[in-house]
Amino acid sequence: MEVIHTVAELRKYLQSVPNNVFVPTMGNLHEGHVKLVEEAAPRGACTVVSIFVNRMQFGPKEDFDRYPRTLDDDCKKLESIGCDVVFAPDEKELYPEPQQYAIYPGSIENILEGAVRPGHFRGVATVVLKLFNMVQPRAAVFGKKDYQQCLVLKNMVRQLALPVEIILAETVRADDGLALSSRNQYLSVSERAEAPRLYRELCELKDALEHGTHSYAILEAEATTDLARHGWQPDYVTVRRREDLLPPSDSDRELVIVAAARLGTPRLLDNIEVTLR
Ligand code: PAF
Repeated sequence: MEVIHTVAELRKYLQSVPNNVFVPTMGNLHEGHVKLVEEAAPRGACTVVSIFVNRMQFGPKEDFDRYPRTLDDDCKKLESIGCDVVFAPDEKELYPEPQQYAIYPGSIENILEGAVRPGHFRGVATVVLKLFNMVQPRAAVFGKKDYQQCLVLKNMVRQLALPVEIILAETVRADDGLALSSRNQYLSVSERAEAPRLYRELCELKDALEHGTHSYAILEAEATTDLARHGWQPDYVTVRRREDLLPPSDSDRELVIVAAARLGTPRLLDNIEVTLR
C-alpha cells in the first residue's frame, strides 16, 4: 500500500492505474469505512482512500480542532483490508491559497443538516470536487448514514456532468443498532447505553408508516418528544422524500426518515428508508 501526501506524487502514481475507485474519508476509520472500502475494491483496479479533515465543512463552533486524527492506525487498518493507495494531504497541500471558488449546492444546502450547520455542504461539495480532480476516479463510494451528503454529491455529479459513478453503501450498525460514527467515541458509558434509542425510534416510525399511518407530523412529534424525555436534544426527526429530502405528498412512496439529535456533547445522525406499497 502506498501512502501519498502530495497531489504531484498522487497524479504520478495514478497515471499507470487509471481505473481507480475512490473512498473519501476524514480518517479515524471504523467498520463503516471498512464497508466503504469493501464496496470499492471489486469495482476497480485500484482502491484509493483519502484521509483529510476538511476545515471548510466545520462551523466555527464545531469540533474541527478536536476531531480525532489517527493516521498511523488508519493506515494499518487500510493495509489489512487491501486498500492500494492512501492519499493524506495536509491543509497547505489541499488549500495552498484561500479557497475563493466553491460549489453551492442550491436549496438542499439550506434544509435539515444544512439549516443546523450553515455552509457545511458547500465545504463538503467543494472538497469532494477538489479530491475528484486530484484522484480522477472512475467511481466513488459514500455511506448512506450521511444521507443528505449523498444527495448533495449525487446532484453535484449530475449537474456538473462529472465522469464519476457514485456508489452508496448501507449504514453499518453496532449489534444494538447504533449507526457507527467517529463521533460515537465522545459518548459517555451511560450515553452509549442510551444511544441506540435513535435507531429504535426510526424503526418504530417506519413500522407505523408501513402499517398505513400517514399522519407524518404526529409520528414525528411523538418520536421527538420521546427522545427529549430521555435526555436528547433533537434537531429533527422527519419523514422526507428520498429523491430531494422535501416533505412528501400523499402520492410519494419512496421515503426516508432522517433524524439528528444531540446526546450530551455528540450530535448523532441516522436515517432509515421506507417504501410504501
Ligand atoms: O463523509 C465524510 O467523511 C466527509 O464529509 C467527506 C465526504 C470525506 C468530505 O470531507
